[in-house]
Amino acid sequence: MARQAPPPPPEPDAAAVAHSHALRERIDAAIAMAGGVLDFADYMALALYAPGLGYYSAGQERFGPGGDFTTAPLVSALFSRTLAREVERILVASNGDTVLEFGAGTGRMAADVLAELQQREALPARYQILEVSADLRAQQARTLAERVPALAARVEWLERLPETPITGAVLANEVLDALPVRRFRRLAQGIEALGAGHDQQGTLCWRGKPADAELEAAVAAMEAECGAPLPEGYVSEWCAGLAPWVSGLADTLKRGAALLIDYGYPRREYYHPQRTHGTLLCHYRHRAHDDPFFWPGLQDITASVDFTLAARAAREAGLEVLGFATQGNFLAGAGLPALLEESAGGNPHRAAELAQQAKPLLFPDEMGERFKVLGVGRGLPEAEAPLRGFEFTDHRERL
Ligand SMILES: C[S@@+](CC[C@H](N)C(=O)[O-])C[C@H]1O[C@@H](n2cnc3c(N)ncnc32)[C@H](O)[C@@H]1O
Repeated sequence: MARQAPPPPPEPDAAAVAHSHALRERIDAAIAMAGGVLDFADYMALALYAPGLGYYSAGQERFGPGGDFTTAPLVSALFSRTLAREVERILVASNGDTVLEFGAGTGRMAADVLAELQQREALPARYQILEVSADLRAQQARTLAERVPALAARVEWLERLPETPITGAVLANEVLDALPVRRFRRLAQGIEALGAGHDQQGTLCWRGKPADAELEAAVAAMEAECGAPLPEGYVSEWCAGLAPWVSGLADTLKRGAALLIDYGYPRREYYHPQRTHGTLLCHYRHRAHDDPFFWPGLQDITASVDFTLAARAAREAGLEVLGFATQGNFLAGAGLPALLEESAGGNPHRAAELAQQAKPLLFPDEMGERFKVLGVGRGLPEAEAPLRGFEFTDHRERL
């Protein structure tokens, strides 16, 4: 039987087209200011976060069936409820009173984590959300008011890192993949920085310019660590903002642990000679593709996370790396099987239903292997080893 091509994505409506055109004007002006080639990180920052216009800063539906992509907290509450059990252990071991979540999306994970902690009589004094999008902050407040009205008063929104360092647990699910990345191409001699420019028809397209010293040094470090120069023509990304992000986290975490969950690889896999086109991934109406210039402002743009870079930045900032595992193994170790059993309450139909919900979170061909969990922290008593998620497997030696 011939395989049918998937149906084309729906055309954006007139309001969405007007929104994208308004953002295009901002981008065109930035390209002109930059002399014809806008560094890709600056393009990605505008496309995702330009105030009132960027994908995360305007009011369209992004998450779930009516949006462009889905995330683990929306697949099943089992994800957040399992994380809550790990959060509880961190709160106890650190004698902490705060949970800080970065980039809370719809607010679903915050609601489910809080509900689970309440059920286990382990609520923290406060649940802080650091969210860059004003529009998403409003959506998160609505979700919390609907799903956990009695707990919503414990939630505080922050626009920047808290001034007083916290003691407790930090969560970031699919936040690091949304940090703007620089893109580069290896030439026979030297490195080319890739960015946004125009073709002769004025359409947005990739344009190159000689790399600056910072990008050259970053690629030289990758090549030294991978043991050989990258092949000529090799294209990939480097997230210049990742180390500063992790260092900000370290300044904020007085005692406790952070769980950073995302798709990505240790450095040697990230810059594998066969991954010749990098890891850039865009999502529009549940279609994944690699064209970041498609309807700017109407699609998500992401890149995989270099977990070696994140772990190194954590160590340099004085944090300890507590573990690194695939999401599937982490959830299995952190108590998902016990949660399934308790939630089924001996009812075989309910058990089958819950097992069905857990599959996409755990299975290697779905989110189980592509997504990883990096645990970092400080000041936790060694004997208490609070992070059960890494008991099953811990691949931190691969970082
Ligand atoms: C792909 S969404 C993930 C949402 C949510 N964590 C989930 O799993 O459903 C990325 C989220 O990170 C936010 N974000 C992006 N950069 C951020 C930053 N530097 N600090 C805090 N939040 C950020 C976005 O506004 C958005 O809420």
